[in-house]
Amino acid sequence: MERKISLSVIKADVGGFVGHSAMHDDLIETAKKRLSDEKKKGTIVDFHVTACGDDLELIMTHNQGENSEEIHRLAWDIFEKCTEVAKHLKLYGAGQDLIADAFSGNIKGMGPGVAEMEFEERISEPIIIFMADKTSAGAWNLPLYKMLADPFNTPGLIITTSMHAGFRFEVHDVKERKRIIFDTPEEIYDLLVFIGATGRYMIKAVYTKDGDIAAVTSTERLALIAGKYVGKDDPVCIVRGQGSFPAIGEILEPFTMPHIVEGWMRGSHYGPLMPVPVNRSTPSRFDGPPRVISLGFQLADGKLVGPRDMFDDPGFDESRKMCNILADQLRRHGPFEPHRLPMEEMEYTTLPYVMDKLQGRWQEIPN
Ligand code: F6R
Ligand code: MG
Ligand code: MG
Repeated sequence: MERKISLSVIKADVGGFVGHSAMHDDLIETAKKRLSDEKKKGTIVDFHVTACGDDLELIMTHNQGENSEEIHRLAWDIFEKCTEVAKHLKLYGAGQDLIADAFSGNIKGMGPGVAEMEFEERISEPIIIFMADKTSAGAWNLPLYKMLADPFNTPGLIITTSMHAGFRFEVHDVKERKRIIFDTPEEIYDLLVFIGATGRYMIKAVYTKDGDIAAVTSTERLALIAGKYVGKDDPVCIVRGQGSFPAIGEILEPFTMPHIVEGWMRGSHYGPLMPVPVNRSTPSRFDGPPRVISLGFQLADGKLVGPRDMFDDPGFDESRKMCNILADQLRRHGPFEPHRLPMEEMEYTTLPYVMDKLQGRWQEIPN
């Protein structure tokens, strides 16, 4: 039997340069150095380090399966080391996402975002890794639905026998910590009841009907972990491409419609998600607009051949232009909904502290 390969993408914001807008090279270099040592030791097979906005993204292949203590500890150690570098440079928000005091076996629930999958590497294994900044974990619901369940996006669902059976979606209720599985296309209406509410229900993973992993996301919600607003989740997502999975172009196509996500300034606003090359993932206008990057790799016995910067394509120019038009229109609303998040979502920002101050000033309305 083929040996399985594991792919882990683990990310954290451990200090921004300047403010929350981007990543300092020293942090990337620190992470690369440690991962290069671990590759020599054989802990990991291969790695790639990048940044999306102010988030440090560790992409690792290894043979240790999902939830490996050794791999999670390695990521945690790197984030701690990078926090030291960030503190030395007085970067902004050093160590921001390291909510737990110390590592305790599994990095999930400690602040960083995690997406991992284990699979048998095919004869050719194209994968796309999406990484976002200034938005929350639910941002992948709409694009994943489009790429894996919507024939208007993915003609392969109709045309190709290998995809015609549809896919199986695992959805998490992150508030109640419950999960449910939906089969598509049979249950798309039931699926959409939940995944349309992106603040609570998140697509965690998608499988073929034969049980092969197609996509996985990070669903960590920082505010729920910390019990208060500490920054946005800035999630990641891995998708396998071609063959019995969508073609690379079908995987990227949903991002041509800049959908509106929560995040942006102070994690408190709706804004369009802009697909950009890695070197443009530097949200500055009103701390945004929210960004998404996508790196493509071919796996070769676990080696990450690549990356190709998939949104570095004039084919996405119009989407970026549309993002700026939508961004202008939303910005004109200033502090009004629907630019600002609805009250229920504002509970997970710093607004409640201001509201507390005014508690005693509210009076009954006389009849
Ligand atoms: C949003 C984000 C920024 C900050 C804003 C205020 O995810 O990171 O918009 O919320 O720059 O930052 P603080 O509160 O750190 O001064
Ligand atoms: Mg930050
Ligand atoms: Mg960030």
